[in-house]
Amino acid sequence: MSRIYLSPPDVGEKERSFLLDAFESNWIAPLGPHVDAFEHEVARRAGVSYAAATSSGTAALHLALALLGIGPGDEVLVPSFTFVATANAVTYVGGTPVLVDSSESTWTVDPDLVRNELKDRSRKGRLPKALITVDLYGQCADYDLLVESCAEYGLFIVEDAAEAIGATYHSSPAGSFGEAAVFSFNGNKIITTGGGGMLVSNSADLVDRARHLSTQAREPFVHYEHVEAGFNYRLSNLLAALGRAQLLGLDQKIRRRRAINELYRQGLGELPGISFMPHAGYGNPNYWLTCILIDPLEFGSDREHVRLALERVDIESRPTWKPLHLQPLFAQAEVIGGRVCAEIFARGLCLPSGSAMSDDDVERVVEIVSRSART
Ligand SMILES: Cc1ncc(COP(=O)(O)O)c(C=O)c1O
Repeated sequence: MSRIYLSPPDVGEKERSFLLDAFESNWIAPLGPHVDAFEHEVARRAGVSYAAATSSGTAALHLALALLGIGPGDEVLVPSFTFVATANAVTYVGGTPVLVDSSESTWTVDPDLVRNELKDRSRKGRLPKALITVDLYGQCADYDLLVESCAEYGLFIVEDAAEAIGATYHSSPAGSFGEAAVFSFNGNKIITTGGGGMLVSNSADLVDRARHLSTQAREPFVHYEHVEAGFNYRLSNLLAALGRAQLLGLDQKIRRRRAINELYRQGLGELPGISFMPHAGYGNPNYWLTCILIDPLEFGSDREHVRLALERVDIESRPTWKPLHLQPLFAQAEVIGGRVCAEIFARGLCLPSGSAMSDDDVERVVEIVSRSART
């Protein structure tokens, strides 16, 4: 039996033909017709007007913060429960991440904690400059109060929708919140270009400047003229072609990941000590990863025991994100709360969720997890 991975790429004939088209056109560069088309198509999907394709989601985050003028001395609220790239982007521009706990009911950043913190800091005259929201494991953050609070206290919002293309919050798509939002097309995401990302925004100016900065900030002269330090952050036309084919299959991939989530709920939901990442109910996730919590006392074994039982039969699973306030890298960072996401980390496991998984694969995972309760 072959190894079951956590979230491997799911590609087919469509991807092959788009890639061949790019190859045969000889647009094998970080520009070309597929880059332009991919930008339009992703912007449309995110319900925004403009997009700039980048070499990674991290690059898009870096550009967004730089273009909003976040710099040395500026504090930025960041959820503690996320992948490290979210906070790294703040340090790239010289800013300081302030880490905020999750809400138990969504696992995304806690809007009440954010609001109280802003109220308190406003009194002290120490407001942060921005909030980065994270649409976690494919579920949007709880935006209503976050948007209201940031508007009231004058913070920019950057939406880290790296994991969430295709998700919605009420009727708004992931990627439509904040001054700018980013997607990732890294190899483990619901759609992939192997490596890539996108910055999206309703500001034509911000996206124009993102394109400029991401191509070494080259000025419009025949020779190479530069007035500021740019980056080499553009997406290749070959990869954009792959991304376009993947985007055509996004709805089908969401349906499949949702069905996998449902199979896990049917197979594991009744077991004592197993619970699932809450479905917030304010929108539709894209079901990127199905995550469970394992209560060792009720279940009879802990998260690590279950993970190792899966690994022994060649099934990949992963602990949920280790909160940033528990990472040596951010040991000095200020943290607001922290208990909720620390508990999710202690008990959380991400199960294989790839859209190419068969029902039998899911059944294998369910059987090993169920059996590991007793062994
Ligand atoms: C929440 C989050 N933010 C940012 C990133 C960074 O994206 P990339 O790997 O494309 O740089 C990822 C994933 O990799 C992510 O999960």
